[in-house]
Amino acid sequence: MKIAIIGLGFVGLSLAAVLASKGYKTIGIDIDKKKCTSIAKGNPTFFEPELEKTLKKGLKNNLIISNEFSLIKECDFVFVTVGTPQRADGAIELSMIKNSATKIGKILHNTRKNPVILIKSTVIPGTMKNIILPILEKNSKKKAGKDFGLISNPEFLQETTSIKDTKFPHAVVLGGYDTKYMKKTKSFFSKLHPKTPIVITNHQTAEMVKYANNSFLATKISFINQLSNICQNIPEANVDDIAKTIGLDPRIGKLFLNAGPGYGGSCLPKDMKALINFASSVGVKPILLNAVEEINQKQIQQIIKIIEKKLKGISSKKITVMGTAFKPDTDDVRDSISIELIKNLLKMKAKITIYDPRAIENTKKIFTNKISYKNSISGALEKSQCVIFMTHWKEFEKINNKSIKGMKRKLVIDCRRIFVGKKINAEYYALGIGK
Ligand code: UGA
Repeated sequence: MKIAIIGLGFVGLSLAAVLASKGYKTIGIDIDKKKCTSIAKGNPTFFEPELEKTLKKGLKNNLIISNEFSLIKECDFVFVTVGTPQRADGAIELSMIKNSATKIGKILHNTRKNPVILIKSTVIPGTMKNIILPILEKNSKKKAGKDFGLISNPEFLQETTSIKDTKFPHAVVLGGYDTKYMKKTKSFFSKLHPKTPIVITNHQTAEMVKYANNSFLATKISFINQLSNICQNIPEANVDDIAKTIGLDPRIGKLFLNAGPGYGGSCLPKDMKALINFASSVGVKPILLNAVEEINQKQIQQIIKIIEKKLKGISSKKITVMGTAFKPDTDDVRDSISIELIKNLLKMKAKITIYDPRAIENTKKIFTNKISYKNSISGALEKSQCVIFMTHWKEFEKINNKSIKGMKRKLVIDCRRIFVGKKINAEYYALGIGK
């Protein structure tokens, strides 16, 4: 059995590496030649824990990395994992998925194989039926369900745990028709993940499940962030104790109740906007989803208000931002709230210095020489008038009074409550803790 994966981002590369490391004959395909060369040498083009090790194991097992689409000709399963980024109007950009479907269709036309095409990319309900399927059938001159299989297979992995999540997903969703291809795919996944529930449904529901998942996670975060803002106005109230306690109720669950500066990353913000856009297009006013988004967007204003009040204005003040990655253990700064905060502070003419254990290079691509970059915590704090902790990197937990000694004014804003309960000689504000 041969498996192809088209699009070697977080989802595709993790899948290719895991399948090959387990001994499946796997081909990873990407249009970016430079990226392919680097991956083929065992060097992923982004940081992800466990990925390099798994990729190297996969390459030892003959994982093929190529920019040659025609290699899918021999494959039994073809996973499509290309990006569906956000357009300016909030809808998703489908050009990459349309291109892939056209190329796959043309190759299908010239092969006697009857592969199963699985779409992992996040797409709004109806995309498979109205866009992908017609492109595939037109270019292959073959029929889905008869000559090839077509299945919606949304992905739920998180960056920073992508290898673990690929190996042990909480669910496998297969959307499509009840055909021999569905049976073959179900049997493939039951062998790959013997303990994971497999949900079989239609295309539209599978597509919607992905948005349901991510929008619910975003809702949990905005919910706790709203409570965090309320707690801040109740003397000594502590949002973490509240989250911990409500999380003990099995109906609520403890995960994704970590209050902070808001959700970022390449998925939750994009998927929220796409779902809001889609809901409106089908005549549903997305009141709750809009509120979740609004809370998220306003969260950084909380931080700016504290600085403005304490420093009596922002203009020309030296402000240090700790952590620009959208979460710890990644170098990814896409849609990071920290980047958004820096943009806001720059507009207000602050002088910004940043430190991040992994994301400095990616941050430089955004701000070039508009801000300063330091490669140590103490360097970033030197002469600073205010420090804001945005990302909860483990190494920040070691910060003590000695580390902040070089600050000109010791104003500490802790969006992740890293220093709660520690004796820190500073004017200390923690989001979600009542003053
Ligand atoms: C998210 C989902 O968690 C995955 O299930 C999904 O597969 C993925 O999007 C996707 O659609 O591809 P990811 O973007 O890697 O995964 O990041 P998360 O771990 O969900 O974090 C998103 C943001 O929420 C981060 O900025 C994080 O700091 C913030 N967050 C998360 C909180 O502020 N509090 C929390 O309790 C949890």
